Amino acid sequence: MNGKRILIGVTGGIAAYKICTLVRLLKKEGAEVKCVLTPSAKDFVSPLTLSTLSAYPCYINFWNKENGEWNSHVELGLWADLMLIAPLTANTLAKLANGYCDNLLTACYLSCKAPVIVSPAMDLDMYEHKTTKKNIDKLIDNGVKVIESEYGELASGLIGHGRLPEPESLLKEVQSFFKNSNRFIGKKVLITAGPSYEKIDPVRFIGNRSSGKMGFQIAAALLNQGAEVVLLAGPNKEHLSHKNLKIITFESTEDLLKSVQLYWHQMDIGIFSAAVADYKVKETYAQKVKKSSEEWTITLIKNPDTLAWAGEHKKETQFLVGFALETENEIENAQKKLHKKNLDLIILNSLQNKGAGFQHDTNQISIINKEGEQINFPLKSKKEVAEDIISCIYKNI
Ligand code: CTP
Repeated sequence: MNGKRILIGVTGGIAAYKICTLVRLLKKEGAEVKCVLTPSAKDFVSPLTLSTLSAYPCYINFWNKENGEWNSHVELGLWADLMLIAPLTANTLAKLANGYCDNLLTACYLSCKAPVIVSPAMDLDMYEHKTTKKNIDKLIDNGVKVIESEYGELASGLIGHGRLPEPESLLKEVQSFFKNSNRFIGKKVLITAGPSYEKIDPVRFIGNRSSGKMGFQIAAALLNQGAEVVLLAGPNKEHLSHKNLKIITFESTEDLLKSVQLYWHQMDIGIFSAAVADYKVKETYAQKVKKSSEEWTITLIKNPDTLAWAGEHKKETQFLVGFALETENEIENAQKKLHKKNLDLIILNSLQNKGAGFQHDTNQISIINKEGEQINFPLKSKKEVAEDIISCIYKNI
């Protein structure tokens, strides 16, 4: 962080007071900090406090009303190695998403050549509103990194998502940005996520409870670190957009295999987190099957193993990661899978812990490499697990 130049944009939200502590923490780490405020931000935090802590004037207007001096948004934008906008209100978010520049902060954003991180903070219903979500997606599409708001008590007294993370967490985001932002630049990564739906008839299928969350979090983490990602996604409720992301959906394992066969040869890394069905229905029906008999037997036949296919066709330069969900002899079985499918790493999902596996926002994993080295991680959020997985891939490639 030493000598890194950070331009902090502060908008008019109640959490603006947290930025005073953040400025102190960043300065302690050796960073140079300048603050630019929207006019309403100064109702929530004193410009004098921020200018004293940052040791730079606080910039609020396009020009200094006392002496007519221009506060050049262009210069501020070019000065920064990173622009962090926190808290980001719904109002300024809407402006940024649509290219408005009616104040110094929004003009700085448009002029800024450096990467931008934003931390939206607002009341829960505003945060959940479709318009807000769309605006956040627009920023992500434009390459902005969005820090997810935290869950907890809000200024309104309501409890939900929308809280600005604590200054220490914001510091960590900035630190990890400088540490990791370039790690996967130039790398093309194929990720599979979610369940498969194996058709029985037009209304019925065999599926499982996989949410796809893990694969989406891995994709998000890699995009933040510069990778180009092709995400092959089974039926899911997740949402992700980014200029370097291509999402291709699939229903059946057969469909997934077709996409894997199309893309794998162009990729540097493959991460197969999809929990697709090992078996499919032998005989599918064109029309809905009527309940005519007391019993109905369905014959299942083996599905192709898409990960094994990628392993068979792996080039020397490619790096392949698989997942294993085991209930007994976990390590031994995962190691067998790693060798059988010609993998470089295998992620073992444990079902021992209540918060791990399907449908949860948390997961507990162990990672095993080809040399048999094993790292066990504690129960963490899937976002943190994704960071652990890609750090491990980075160390092993
Ligand atoms: N996988 C796949 N295609 C399949 C089945 C699994 O690509 N048809 C991938 C998964 O994405 C995961 C890995 O293979 O990365 C492990 O899948 P799993 O079902 O746990 O293992 P299997 O090898 O199928 O063995 P078993 O079911 O006997 O444990």
